[in-house]
Amino acid sequence: MMSIDKTLKLIRPNIARLQPYSSARSEFTGSNAILLDANENPYSFIDEEMEINRYPDPMQRYAKRKIALLKGMEPNQIFLGNGSDEAVDLIIRCFCEPSTDSIAIFSPTYGMYSVCAAINNVAVKQFLLNDDFSININQFFDNISSDIKVVFICSPNNPTGNAQPIKTIERVVSQFNGILVVDEAYIDFCPEKSTLNLLNKYPNLIVLQTFSKAWAMAGARIGIAFAHENIIRILNKVKFPYNIGVPSLKVLERALEKTSSTKISVNQIIDEREMLKMKLQALPCVEKVYPSDTNFLLVKTTDANSIYRYLLNKTIVVRNRSNEPLCENCLRITVGKPDENQRLIEILKAYEP
Ligand SMILES: Cc1ncc(COP(=O)(O)O)c(C=O)c1O
Repeated sequence: MMSIDKTLKLIRPNIARLQPYSSARSEFTGSNAILLDANENPYSFIDEEMEINRYPDPMQRYAKRKIALLKGMEPNQIFLGNGSDEAVDLIIRCFCEPSTDSIAIFSPTYGMYSVCAAINNVAVKQFLLNDDFSININQFFDNISSDIKVVFICSPNNPTGNAQPIKTIERVVSQFNGILVVDEAYIDFCPEKSTLNLLNKYPNLIVLQTFSKAWAMAGARIGIAFAHENIIRILNKVKFPYNIGVPSLKVLERALEKTSSTKISVNQIIDEREMLKMKLQALPCVEKVYPSDTNFLLVKTTDANSIYRYLLNKTIVVRNRSNEPLCENCLRITVGKPDENQRLIEILKAYEP
């Protein structure tokens, strides 16, 4: 088990030494000041109400206070990024020395971990999930090497749709001498499977969540990293100062006032997912629909490439995952509105191999 001191030793030396950019705005915490510090235009003629002429709060303090209350965390345990993709990139940059260190992933999984690693010239060690998409813990611990600084577990996993048992995740975080990132982008569809409660026990754990899925704000680009305050401090040091714009912050603040709408929408999507699953399973071109803890279904078909092209021709866009390991002939289908799902089923009924 890692202490916070041991965890902080994992930070790349240049990042540990880094003096971050400091804006006068983050040094001033009062209100109604005359703002002559940031070379902004004092006239807000584009959008007066939003005060779009001003830079946003670099530390997003108001939103973090609200999120902290909602999640039972402290504001200083929260990092907000330009999508959770920003957090993925920053974590790799803070902990992995280019051309020396590696990350580990459990395939098949979300593609951005490998892309961010490649951009940073960090190698990727792939561990294959079991046939039921669970993690093979023994194989992982038998094969890890000291260059692996960050491990990503996506739970619920994209594209397989399943959440990993909390016990599995705890075994990894308690025995691994590096950073474990649990990407919970879809956790609002199965909140009981969240590992957020493990954070106070394990300083080497980072939990990612996002406003892009259940919260219906993919266009705003806002993701969250929850972690020990000393880890959050490092991510804040490395991020661009004004990484979330004023319009996105305003939308986020509005969304945080209407949490009940999110819950209603999640339940609607879950009901629709189960209905869609049943209808898909009855189709001749579908071999299997995997269980899902998310807002999408992984569907094993008779011929994914052909069905994918057929659907595109009918102006229905799904994700062809058939080239991913363990996903032969699989399409990933997002749960849409009832009429969209119905149309998908009708079109698939008419499919001829
Ligand atoms: C598992 C997973 N993590 C992260 C993301 C990206 O989320 P964001 O929009 O917050 O960058 C996605 C988006 O599809 C995802 O599937």
